[in-house]
Amino acid sequence: MKVHARAPGKVIWFGEHFVVKGKPAIASAIDLYADVTIEPIDSDRVIIESRDKGVIYDYSRRGKPPRLLKPFKHVIDYIVGEGYTGRPRGIYARISSSIPVGAGLGSSAATLVAFTAAFLKYHGVPMDSNTVSKIAYEGEKIVHGKPSGIDNTVSTHGGFILYKQGVLQKIDYVWRDDYVLLVVDTGISRNTGHAVKRVLDRYNRVPNVMTKIYDAAEEIVYTALKYLRKGDFEQLGELMNIAHGLLASIGVSIKRIESIIHTALKQGASGAKLTGAGLGGCVLVLVRNDLLDRVSHSISRVSKKIRIFPVKPIGKGYSVRVYE
Ligand code: MEV
Repeated sequence: MKVHARAPGKVIWFGEHFVVKGKPAIASAIDLYADVTIEPIDSDRVIIESRDKGVIYDYSRRGKPPRLLKPFKHVIDYIVGEGYTGRPRGIYARISSSIPVGAGLGSSAATLVAFTAAFLKYHGVPMDSNTVSKIAYEGEKIVHGKPSGIDNTVSTHGGFILYKQGVLQKIDYVWRDDYVLLVVDTGISRNTGHAVKRVLDRYNRVPNVMTKIYDAAEEIVYTALKYLRKGDFEQLGELMNIAHGLLASIGVSIKRIESIIHTALKQGASGAKLTGAGLGGCVLVLVRNDLLDRVSHSISRVSKKIRIFPVKPIGKGYSVRVYE
């Protein structure tokens, strides 16, 4: 038996960082994916391989895993420790991903969701989305410290999601085909845990000012819900611009992010903001089709390191297939 699982990356439209202090956020799954296949091997060894990075770990030897594979070891420990399975069978697990890493697109959560789903399926454990998301979150804690849980939630469930304090609500939305959503990778990778700490430190230094910014971010989320449901992308774009201003004010923008945003807006994009943790990572640009070439061309001239991905929100979260 061979099992293949796939899980999508995500973008946060509104509410990153503010979500860490319990404010609501809006995110959607996007059509970039992580894949995990699990096959039997002729021994009781448990091998995990990251195809993209060429790193391998033999779980059965119980040695120290390479940093990149530590969350997967932790997920197996958790699954076994909580009694979901007995001792794991002999397997070879291959992990690969088309989601840029360290870019705020939920690549670690997507690989962990796909890995969890494939592992449970291979061992014949009945599963539901909440279990998959919960277990993947255990791995996320190893990567990011104490993340809000939005990444594993969106990757598991798919669609547009309103997320608040661990609770998700699927959002109805109208997707306009006369617009394109660009994910612009700045080429500067960053660490989510570090960005979150930086924001929380500022929060603790000037809480009276920061709480007002957090309240404004919350207001943006509830206003954005209205425009998403109506498919009013011009208004949505304007909210993205305001949201970015708030993210800059809490200290997570950098020069390259600002250059991309200014260039995109100057060339006619409807909205642009950083997405995810900031300090590098990605920028979201919402642009009308007829302006796409002009906007993309100008953005790509900001730096040779920039990569541009046109993406679409997708309704489906993880999927698992079994090949006999
Ligand atoms: C990272 O994708 C989003 C942050 O809000 C952190 C989190 O929610 O855990 C910056």
